[in-house]
Amino acid sequence: MTGATFRPSGPLRGSYTPPADKSISHRAALFGAMADEPVTVRNYLDSEDTRSTLGAVLALGAGVEEEGAGCLVIRGVGLHAPLEATGGRLDVGNAGTLMRLLPGWLAGQPGGVWTLDGDDSIRRRPVDRVAEPLRRMGATVEAREDRFPPFTVRGAQLNGIEYELPQASAQVKSCVLIAGMMADGSTTVTEPSASRDHTERLMRRARVPCERAGLRTTVAQVDELELDEIVVPGDPSSAAFIVAAAILVKGSRVVVSDIGLNWTRTGFLRIAERMGAVIVGQLEEPGADSEEEPVGELDVASGPLEGTVVEPAEVPLAIDELTLVALLGAHAEGETVVRGAEELRLKESDRIAGVVGGLRGLGADIEATPDGFVVRGDGSPLRGGTIDSEGDHRMAMLGAVAGLASKEGVEVTGMEAAAVSYPGFERDLRALL
Ligand code: S3P
Repeated sequence: MTGATFRPSGPLRGSYTPPADKSISHRAALFGAMADEPVTVRNYLDSEDTRSTLGAVLALGAGVEEEGAGCLVIRGVGLHAPLEATGGRLDVGNAGTLMRLLPGWLAGQPGGVWTLDGDDSIRRRPVDRVAEPLRRMGATVEAREDRFPPFTVRGAQLNGIEYELPQASAQVKSCVLIAGMMADGSTTVTEPSASRDHTERLMRRARVPCERAGLRTTVAQVDELELDEIVVPGDPSSAAFIVAAAILVKGSRVVVSDIGLNWTRTGFLRIAERMGAVIVGQLEEPGADSEEEPVGELDVASGPLEGTVVEPAEVPLAIDELTLVALLGAHAEGETVVRGAEELRLKESDRIAGVVGGLRGLGADIEATPDGFVVRGDGSPLRGGTIDSEGDHRMAMLGAVAGLASKEGVEVTGMEAAAVSYPGFERDLRALL
């Protein structure tokens, strides 16, 4: 395990381009593999998670060629092609998105059988949430204790269903919609509140009939995907760590370029602005029924923060950044409350336990609630100390940002976990100091 120390720093200044979006990269590789014609993916994320997705599509018979930095050509096998490696084991590594989305495609391959498995973290994360709708669509699936990976999927000719998601989850929604492209009739998914919509946008780009009415999304069966090129924008979730550092370290000013500004991904920026951060940029408005991913520039500066309440409907729009809300809350004046975020317990680690234990160890006044946390601050920096990533990439990066903003610095144990989504994180952060 690698430890890294992040000392209190002077302001962050300069321009910054975040790494490619992880969610969109996973989807680009999968959609490329499902297409009949070659798909060029520009700015594909090079990280451990997205390499797992390339490994999986290769194992299924797709071709992946590198054409210069970040540019891949994926030679797909088609939506309904007889996939290779039937009976094979697919290793998803640490990638929850791959574990949830890929079964949607596999479930629609009559006669095919695959077992998906991954690392210790993935084996603790539930797959019953995708097993249930896939069974209803006609696939046969098996999971350990009916809940956890390894996850075996036996494909079938699927039937379309109407499915109400018990929790807002873009991964589960995407799994059902992907299966819906191969299912007889149409498939409708209703979410309790909006979650990221990259799959729906990509479907529209691929000329798949995919319509949204409020929180209901319907997809119709198709024979093929029509896609030629996907350009992956910068990842707002990865950028959020740098943005948070710029907000917390006094005197900072960072211009962020080529960042994805899809409304379903920018909840953290809205929460941070509400707390007093200075963020100037053209965020997308809600309700876009677009096939494009909006990309833009942000100008971020530090400012005095005050506490806020994050309501359940905001949670899916900032799901991967809520630990940063806790860190901002610890430096803000007053109380910050996050509600309706019990999903955080099922991420790469239990992020409610991790952020509460981790920030408390650095001197924060924070406590866990069943569905989130409450943190109180008086506007002064945290003391500092040691934080363990527990193998979770976002917890490692949280510790680094906490260190820069602290009085005494933070030592992060397990910093190497950052490579799951953001291998260049330390380099990018230090370049702004
Ligand atoms: C993701 C959706 C979110 C998020 C994850 C990536 C995606 O998970 O936490 O990092 O790419 O669809 P849930 O949709 O399960 O909350």
